[in-house]
Amino acid sequence: MSSWAEADEILTSRLFAQESKHESAPLVGGTVLVMDGPAHLRRRRLLAPLMSRTALADHDAVVAATLDDCVRSQAADLVPLGRSVFLQLAASIIGLGDLGGRTPELLALLGPLLEAVTVEWSTRDHAVVLAEGLAARDRLVAGFPLSADGSTLAAIMAAHPGEWDPEAAVREVVLFLAASTLNNAALLVHVVDELSRCPLPDDRLSDALAETLRLYPPTVALLRRALEDVTLRDGRLVRAGEYVAVDLHAANRDPAVFGADADEFRPGRAVDGRARPWGLTFGSGPHLCLGRAVVTGTAVTPGVHLRILRRLRELGVRPDPDRPPVLAPTAQRRHDSYPVLLAPT
Ligand code: HEM
Repeated sequence: MSSWAEADEILTSRLFAQESKHESAPLVGGTVLVMDGPAHLRRRRLLAPLMSRTALADHDAVVAATLDDCVRSQAADLVPLGRSVFLQLAASIIGLGDLGGRTPELLALLGPLLEAVTVEWSTRDHAVVLAEGLAARDRLVAGFPLSADGSTLAAIMAAHPGEWDPEAAVREVVLFLAASTLNNAALLVHVVDELSRCPLPDDRLSDALAETLRLYPPTVALLRRALEDVTLRDGRLVRAGEYVAVDLHAANRDPAVFGADADEFRPGRAVDGRARPWGLTFGSGPHLCLGRAVVTGTAVTPGVHLRILRRLRELGVRPDPDRPPVLAPTAQRRHDSYPVLLAPT
């Protein structure tokens, strides 16, 4: 399924069930991401306060307060730098408290965890990736206790013990840890990379962000299963039980919606009809990304990426010509390393 219209039709339809996360179920099974129907709706409602106006302001304040420390400690490479920054965001959302000097310790656990949560796309031995991820998860649970204060995931889970048993709570934490760091860190690298070829003033950064999100959806495809025979608007029949892969990369480059030059980076482009400037990168319908407002901002909060990008640009961020980037061993397009040069903070 690769046209924007067909992809959106499937993602918004209640006749298709979530099927994206089978192999990674030991890490994220039973979470909001893989639930369906009324139970899913209920879980989403419980989690909504994580993205309230006050919560968004709190998350932004945490990023603002910790940004320069993260930049100082990881100035040579945008991948660990981005992950460190977004770990502070994750800690604020989840309720891991002030990470302070423990950021490197958590960063070391994050690598294997992120690879295991997206094991479906890994080009390494999947059994090995999962075993490493589960070992990292156990170290996370043992070493990083949750604190149930404020509008955090930990507080919501503590207030609804019937909804999350201890194992389900750990999985939800792993989902939010991965969701807050993986795609954001990948996005930061892509946008710095695009801006290094197409310099833009600061007041065009949100256009650049949206255009980067459209061209490089961190999750390239979403899987769904038909719950009954479904005839799509274009007449195509999907039989009950059949799987469909919704190709976000292709849908986001559909010339009917994004123009004849849809493969090009052209921030601020006009977009047809109901589509958003970032296409389907955050999904659509019942599973629409719960964290989108953190990334793209709202009418009152600009979103953490703009803050981070502005600061990195003040410091003259640019790719290091002597150290080439390294792609991660996965079918998703993200980097293991993206060396940069920065002025000292
Ligand atoms: C560049 C950043 C991000 C991208 C591209 C992204 C992308 C996505 C996509 C495509 C989905 C839908 C999955 C599906 O339909 O199967 C999703 C769901 C989700 N995202 Fe994000 N995400 C991002 C950042 C975040 C952040 C910062 C959070 C933190 C709260 C977050 C939390 C979630 C959650 C909890 C879900 C599951 C929602 C549900 O199934 O009801 N995401 N995300």
